[in-house]
Amino acid sequence: MKREATLCRQCPVCNGFACRGEIPGLGGIGQGISFINNVKELAKIKLNLDVLNDVKDIDTSTDLFGEKCDLPLCCAPIAGIRNNYGTDISDYDYNTELAKACREENILCFVGDGIDFENYFHLPAKALHEQGGKGFLTIKPWQMETVKQRFETVKEFDVLGVAMDIDAAGLPLLRNAKTPVENKDIRALHEIKKLCGDKPFIVKGIMTKEAALLALEAGADGIIVSNHGGRVLDETPATIEVLEEIVEAINGRLTVLVDGGFRTGNDIFKAIALGADAVLVGRPLALACATEGTDGVRNSIQKLKKEFIHAMRMTGCENISAITHTKVRK
Ligand SMILES: Cc1cc2nc3c(=O)[nH]c(=O)nc-3n(C[C@H](O)[C@H](O)[C@H](O)COP(=O)(O)O)c2cc1C
Repeated sequence: MKREATLCRQCPVCNGFACRGEIPGLGGIGQGISFINNVKELAKIKLNLDVLNDVKDIDTSTDLFGEKCDLPLCCAPIAGIRNNYGTDISDYDYNTELAKACREENILCFVGDGIDFENYFHLPAKALHEQGGKGFLTIKPWQMETVKQRFETVKEFDVLGVAMDIDAAGLPLLRNAKTPVENKDIRALHEIKKLCGDKPFIVKGIMTKEAALLALEAGADGIIVSNHGGRVLDETPATIEVLEEIVEAINGRLTVLVDGGFRTGNDIFKAIALGADAVLVGRPLALACATEGTDGVRNSIQKLKKEFIHAMRMTGCENISAITHTKVRK
């Protein structure tokens, strides 16, 4: 049975045009240029067709934070499904169905956060735990006291790690909340890393090499090159435009993930070629889950996997480490 999602226009390609400015909804902030850029700039990168080789068996598996995954793909954290998609499903049910699909396809699952602690954080965290815990709880950059309260939930449930979407400091709804979000500096990140204990800590929302180096200095285990799907600041570069310089600055010292506008297996291939360890996909997988549940997400992941394998075969890449910058043309 298909559920309705009245706030998503469900375009043939999810590119940010039709929904620009729609928040709540799925759009980018303001004119929606950051969201649109993410998709547009990815399309400019081409794959170097090369079949003069003996590539036969293709291995798409990779290691992320000590976990073996079948694909360099993760489900991005998306909170507030009812308000943003216009779908009659709680965030607990949404994350249960999403995390189940991720478990069955063996990829990492990220869970989001929102003002309503119980419904947008605690229950979604429980959902991830109940589905095996192979993923990250993504805490909003609340004031420290609230962050510490969120860590009680981290202790309660067995999950792989913790992320913080520091760029959510720009979400208007949260900026003006009773318990507001704030900008985090390196000292704050250091403190949050300590709260993580031996769990990996990822900083989400990095768009410059300077910020990437500060996250590294703060002890982060990973970063996500992200502009929050274009929802926090209009007219940023696309994430794919800044990825390479950030990867260069980091030079293998932590795991680099990227999200924003990734829609096909070819798109995932492009990010890996430019140095990312994995890609997060947001809106398309969230829509699949909101309308068709676990089966919908599994079908979408399998489609991405097929496209990714085809891209690897046609560029002569037998495994993930063979996907280097020589495989794409900018
Ligand atoms: C409706 C909606 C809710 C989101 N909620 C969260 C969240 O709770 N935490 C977070 O880190 N990112 C959140 N994001 C951002 C996504 O995790 C991700 O960075 C972005 O959507 C990726 O771009 P894509 O949707 O174009 O693939 C949200 C995005 C949308 C569209």
